[in-house]
Amino acid sequence: MSSQKQVSLTGITTTGTPHLGNYAGAIRPAIAASRREDVDSFYFLADYHALAKNLDPESMARSTLEIAATWLALGLDPERVTFYRQSDIPEILELAWILSGVTAKGLMNRSHAYKAVVAENEAAGSRDPDKGVSMALFGYPVLMTADILMFRATHVPVGRDQKQHLEMARDIAARFNHAYRETFVLPEPVIDEHTAVLAGLDGRKMSKSYGNTIPLFAPAKKLRKLIMKIKTNSLEPGEPKDPEGCTLFSVYRAFATPGQVDELRARYAEGIGWGEMKQLLFEHLDAELAGPREVYEALIQDPARIEAVLRTGAEKARAISRPFLAEIRDAIGVRSLDAVRP
Ligand code: TRP
Repeated sequence: MSSQKQVSLTGITTTGTPHLGNYAGAIRPAIAASRREDVDSFYFLADYHALAKNLDPESMARSTLEIAATWLALGLDPERVTFYRQSDIPEILELAWILSGVTAKGLMNRSHAYKAVVAENEAAGSRDPDKGVSMALFGYPVLMTADILMFRATHVPVGRDQKQHLEMARDIAARFNHAYRETFVLPEPVIDEHTAVLAGLDGRKMSKSYGNTIPLFAPAKKLRKLIMKIKTNSLEPGEPKDPEGCTLFSVYRAFATPGQVDELRARYAEGIGWGEMKQLLFEHLDAELAGPREVYEALIQDPARIEAVLRTGAEKARAISRPFLAEIRDAIGVRSLDAVRP
């Protein structure tokens, strides 16, 4: 392993079913990056992060299965990357606690995710501004920092909403390096302004939290039904239409070549009807997703196969995290007593 290699790491929290937006915005670029020779990739299921939002054990287990199957069905090669489940790497959890020692509470107070809940409570007139805030939600950025620092990630591809978490990770790493000794690499966020931000069924950003998503591997019939539900304006067939701000167009664009997008733009100008456009979008998506969907369904039926892949990934990951944690423990003075001079 050359030390100049870029280390790229990213995780997906195991809440909900993967949707078209996850694919276009995160999974597809990550799989493309994993094929580069000059990059070492670490991709993982952030299942312990799900505790910040979701306490239902069945949906935790189901989502973990679905997200793992999604990565594999879309062509992630577990031989090329280190693909694992966060909870299989106990060193990450231990590191999170160690890092909490150099993390100012005030830094966490400034977290957008936490402040959003406080603001909601205040708006609702609640007496307790921290209502519904668990320590898992409050300390979320510390666990995320441990995920990143454990594998000496240099580059972390994330959505714009995660930028602050990366700043916190750098801040915590720098404090540790200063308080103890140079131990951690400071990670850079990679926020690609060009990656697709998909609109969802109601025209807002496609997001689990808005409940407006189209599941990536919905069966063809269901996919068609959801596309037919996408909101449009009331222009009639034959009337010219504006592709900008049109949800159907935004979804199409994320899955089409520039040439196909230009053609569609021309059809909007000619006044393509919404019914026809929806059918066109359905056929286009279905053609791209039918192959991986079949693989996905087979994988979901065979959880033992996925489990085996994740176990192998965990072995690979722990070959790094075990010795590194030993170094970190030494740095903070958690040492075997026979190494202490009387
Ligand atoms: N917080 C990220 C999200 O919700 C998921 C995540 C957890 C993550 N740990 C990470 C992303 C480490 C990048 C690196 O999208």
